[in-house]
Amino acid sequence: MRRIQIAPSLLASDFSRLAEEARAVEKAGADMLHIDVMDGRFVPSITVGQPVVSSLRKITKLPLDVHLMIVEPLDHIKGFIEAGADIVTVHVEACSHLYRAVATIKDAGRHAGVSINPATPIAMLSDIIHELYLVLVMTVSPGFGGQQFIRSTLGKIQELDGIRRSRNVPLLIEADGGINAQNVAGVIRAGADIIVAGTAIFGAKNYTQAIKRLKCVP
Ligand code: DX5
Ligand code: ZN
Repeated sequence: MRRIQIAPSLLASDFSRLAEEARAVEKAGADMLHIDVMDGRFVPSITVGQPVVSSLRKITKLPLDVHLMIVEPLDHIKGFIEAGADIVTVHVEACSHLYRAVATIKDAGRHAGVSINPATPIAMLSDIIHELYLVLVMTVSPGFGGQQFIRSTLGKIQELDGIRRSRNVPLLIEADGGINAQNVAGVIRAGADIIVAGTAIFGAKNYTQAIKRLKCVP
């Protein structure tokens, strides 16, 4: 059995009580914290930067999974690593020098991820998959929490799963956007190992139960 990990997306938390929310999901069984960094250019919204990552680093032991939805992420990778990111994920669509970005993350001793939008073919990653810790498959168009899951992205997850098996690479597949207790089983069946969820966790009354449900544990 594959180990399924849950990454609550803090975007859906109450930002006025960020530390409290982070500690609450840690206690509730989260495996890592997903931090959505948006620049108002690659995606329409603007969210948080390095200072928030370094503040979170001080109050939790959970790995920090930093999802950079920013143009030319290479300019900012070192800053996020110094702030305490454990996993740094850049978008293939936003990065002119993907290989260099991935090497910068790995040379700093952190896990490198590449994210892919719903309309971008997996073939774009073909020549870099062997260098990656994870591929983050967007199951909505990035930019906002609380959107509806795009079903056709399941095929992308399956395709990636096929590639990692045929090439025998230890790649993890992370899925992000619109995932809830109703559709998570299909996402896991398709091959995802890490489930990102914002609304489905922070919108619930009981975070422990919400996380258990996403792990498909009755
Ligand atoms: C979307 C972000 C997601 C988002 C997930 O651009 O990358 O991480 O916050 O939130 P939900 O689970 O509410 O779709
Ligand atoms: Zn995200």
